[in-house]
Amino acid sequence: MNNIVIFGAGGHAKAVVDAVEREGRYRIFGLLDSHKASGSDIYGYRVLGNEQYIAEHREEIKGCIIAIGDNWTRALIAARIALRYPDLPFVTAVHPGAWIARGAKLGQGTVVMAGAVVNSDTLIGEHCILYPKASIDHDSRIGDYVTLAPGATTGGNVTVGDYSVLSLGVSVIHSVSIGEHTVIGAGATVLSDIGGYAVAYGTPAVIARSRAAGERYL
Ligand SMILES: CC(C)(COP(=O)(O)OP(=O)(O)OC[C@H]1O[C@@H](n2cnc3c(N)ncnc32)[C@H](O)[C@@H]1OP(=O)(O)O)[C@@H](O)C(=O)NCCC(=O)NCCS
Repeated sequence: MNNIVIFGAGGHAKAVVDAVEREGRYRIFGLLDSHKASGSDIYGYRVLGNEQYIAEHREEIKGCIIAIGDNWTRALIAARIALRYPDLPFVTAVHPGAWIARGAKLGQGTVVMAGAVVNSDTLIGEHCILYPKASIDHDSRIGDYVTLAPGATTGGNVTVGDYSVLSLGVSVIHSVSIGEHTVIGAGATVLSDIGGYAVAYGTPAVIARSRAAGERYL
């Protein structure tokens, strides 16, 4: 079984560790986090240091996954690692309690947690996070660095742009398009298209304000 490292050793990393362990495709070599002391651990997996550690153990490490919840921060780290270690693959993690239907595809680095559903022929981009019970129905297109929080649900033929967030319990009806860098607030019901660079919430969801790329939402 190939060794991988997990970037990030916070609360989100615990869930990623769980998905990787239960999927059983990779062995977790350890965690990398420049903000945590070397030697601390999560479920017995040690924090080994920062990304420099890869250079020193490149032969043993065959892949990596980024366990950072914020979409923009995850993208910055992915870009930095890709630049420094261009031949190090980003792997996916899919909890065995998730369902990936026929024809559905996941981009590299994407994490799918327990109870999530990716239905028929839906395409999920790179480095996305589908939290527990997130559900995307058939023929949808989800960009890169997108988060679907726990319980976020879409109908079929939905589009979500890069870096966008469907927060806790959001519902999106079929065939709606959501732009990039947009945050749909918790509990919203999206009945019509919402453009990019916006924060929207409510039932029906309406745009409350504009939003810059990288603005914090967690
Ligand atoms: C939408 C959100 C990002 C906040 O956006 P914001 O523009 O910073 O909003 P503020 O917190 O300044 O609140 C502004 C107003 O909108 C209201 N509001 C905020 N979020 C709302 C929501 N989801 N639904 C309805 N009203 C909301 C606030 O109560 C406040 O109302 P007031 O002016 O009457 O006091 C945040 O409320 C949210 O829903 N976050 C998602 C949390 C989540 O799902 N976390 C898990 C991620 S994995």
